[in-house]
Amino acid sequence: NANVQWGGRFAGGPSDIMQAINASISFDKALWKQDIAGSLAHAAMLAHVGIISKDDEAAIRKGLTEIGAEIAAGDFAFSEALEDIHMNIEARLSERVGEAGKRLHTARSRNDQVATDFRLWVRDAIDGLDQQVASLMRALAQRAQEHAADPMPGFTHLQTAQPVTFGHHLMAYVEMLARDRGRLADTRRRLNECPLGSAALAGTSFPIDRAMTAELLHFDRPTANSLDAVSDRDFALEYLSALSILAMHLSRMAEEIVIWCSSPFSFIRLSDAFTTGSSIMPQKRNPDAAELVRAKTGRINGSLIGLLTVMKGLPLAYAKDMQEDKEPVFAATDAAALCLAACDGMVRDMTANTRQMRALAGSGYSTATDIADWLVRVLKVPFRTAHHVTGRLVARAEAQNIGLAELTLAEMQAEEPGITQDIYSVLSVDASIASRTSLGGTAASNVMAQATRWLDALAGT
Ligand code: ARG
Repeated sequence: NANVQWGGRFAGGPSDIMQAINASISFDKALWKQDIAGSLAHAAMLAHVGIISKDDEAAIRKGLTEIGAEIAAGDFAFSEALEDIHMNIEARLSERVGEAGKRLHTARSRNDQVATDFRLWVRDAIDGLDQQVASLMRALAQRAQEHAADPMPGFTHLQTAQPVTFGHHLMAYVEMLARDRGRLADTRRRLNECPLGSAALAGTSFPIDRAMTAELLHFDRPTANSLDAVSDRDFALEYLSALSILAMHLSRMAEEIVIWCSSPFSFIRLSDAFTTGSSIMPQKRNPDAAELVRAKTGRINGSLIGLLTVMKGLPLAYAKDMQEDKEPVFAATDAAALCLAACDGMVRDMTANTRQMRALAGSGYSTATDIADWLVRVLKVPFRTAHHVTGRLVARAEAQNIGLAELTLAEMQAEEPGITQDIYSVLSVDASIASRTSLGGTAASNVMAQATRWLDALAGT
């Protein structure tokens, strides 16, 4: 029993193995809405230019609408023998509306059909993720306003470097996520061309109106080259690249959350809703969500590399290899959506341990740079010399196991005779932070302004 859609020239049907390797219905049924939308637009266009009758178009529209309802209700019997979502829906349409249904595939191929469906799907996914990224940015900016003036140790090499505010640290992620939104928006702009009407690879002899289908499906324009249109998956690759970079950002945030809520740090406490317990150690509060956000980056990067590898070396135009484009995109989308939701929840719910962060912000000689800056500003000492003098002051304090502020003026003057009492005014964490008023610096007023600017910008989204 040969395939009902293409079996005309075949005496026998495919083996079970052939069917198993060939069929994509198990995953591409996710494209059903896009497939129906594409077919509705195609049928409207065919009727508009007179390739099919208005009656046929009406029958097709009715049939497709009913099929959509069947699928939505879970009443549709997906068939592996019909390979994919396109042939499942088309065969069902012919079952329901007869001859008219059999005219739908005029001037179309599954090659331009799947390229169109997939672009529509990725476009919808971008719109959904964009909202989620915006929501996470909002959560971070709100928490940043709350903690605009609360000190925490800033790190480089994960060694205490200089005091920053917790709000400033959170706002750093807002900037990263804003670039992620930009990448998704760029991807969307470039993908928004309609392949429908490219047919199998060469275009069609029918007098189709590609501008019409493009417009009906809210594309900016039809694609320009039929070979390119059916063989291009750049849009999926760009999308996966954007998701990989986004996932890398979320993974860095997740790693920091893991560090911050470890008991030696105790910078934050995650809510019960975003914490798990241990089956043996009753005291444990584990940040599993953050760890899994960190881990799911692997899946998303893997999807990008997987599809890049599928696409490399494929001759034009369509090849069945390209059927392997969907699962990585679906998997990466699910993972990214879940990671964004988890980060959103963790950030909104977490409690900052501001006393602990403030205490540690001043440890590790974190205001040493402020001494060096004072020597430069007040005594006009060259910075490199000031760095040296400060290094010796740190060594003196360290030898006595005390902070810089606890060195006596006489001890300070032993290293640099010009030092006066005034130097103590720059040694506190708050003074250090307050002095960082340069554009983009950590002074509380800067952080507040940046957070407010972002919340205003995000208000419309
Ligand atoms: N299921 C196929 C895919 O996802 C649809 C396109 C099939 N085209 C073909 N010429 N066999 O790629």
